[in-house]
Amino acid sequence: MSVWAVLAAAGRGERLGSDRPKAFARLGGRPLLAESLERLEESGWIDAIVIAAPPDWEEPSILVAEEIAATKVSSAVTGGASRSESVRLALEEVPAEAAVVLVHDAARPLLPEEVIERVLAPLSEGWDGVVPAVPLADTVKRVEGDRVVETLSREDLGAVQTPQAFRADALRRAVSGDVSSATDCASLVESQGGRIKVVEGDPRLLKVTDAEDLALVESWLA
Ligand code: CTP
Ligand code: MG
Repeated sequence: MSVWAVLAAAGRGERLGSDRPKAFARLGGRPLLAESLERLEESGWIDAIVIAAPPDWEEPSILVAEEIAATKVSSAVTGGASRSESVRLALEEVPAEAAVVLVHDAARPLLPEEVIERVLAPLSEGWDGVVPAVPLADTVKRVEGDRVVETLSREDLGAVQTPQAFRADALRRAVSGDVSSATDCASLVESQGGRIKVVEGDPRLLKVTDAEDLALVESWLA
């Protein structure tokens, strides 16, 4: 069974406000992208990697791969206008014989090997996809304008992270339709009737959104 990873790194990083795309912001003295790429490279579970890069940053992405002596990076493709489109474009570079695809956000640099293992294992039990989630600390309410409509039961909710693992055929089918409203790949597979399992996430998988997040993740680097 061959497992391919798609690293979604094509975002602009507007909320981080750097002079370059978020994947190339500095983290521990190197581009942020290097951290998750190195962890995918070193994972015993991953056979090959496709990077979805921001327009004009395909070549620099390959250079990052070369700098960490990555041997699994197959290509860096130009990403799309949304995350889901970037994943769809990267999937075009994943060969038909790949049975499983792991999709990860470059914006989550600290990727523990245990989580990769945790999301891949249940695919052999008949699940179409597996997502890591962490419990919510805050109470969540549905809001219309400035009015609370409903308070949701926190026990029923989870904050979903990446890496997300999928049967390749299920993911390909899911991203081939209208992906404009999706914020993660699992929701696309769900809307096709796919069965998604939830496993335990990891607080270290914090997504770098703004400068404060970047400083926090930097402080966690060993
Ligand atoms: N992403 C992508 N292609 C896009 C948009 C986002 O590959 N067109 C990726 C980002 O590179 C990131 C992940 O999806 O790794 C999650 O997106 P987000 O945190 O929103 O990153 P950005 O879109 O870069 O940030 P912002 O929304 O602040 O511009
Ligand atoms: Mg974004």
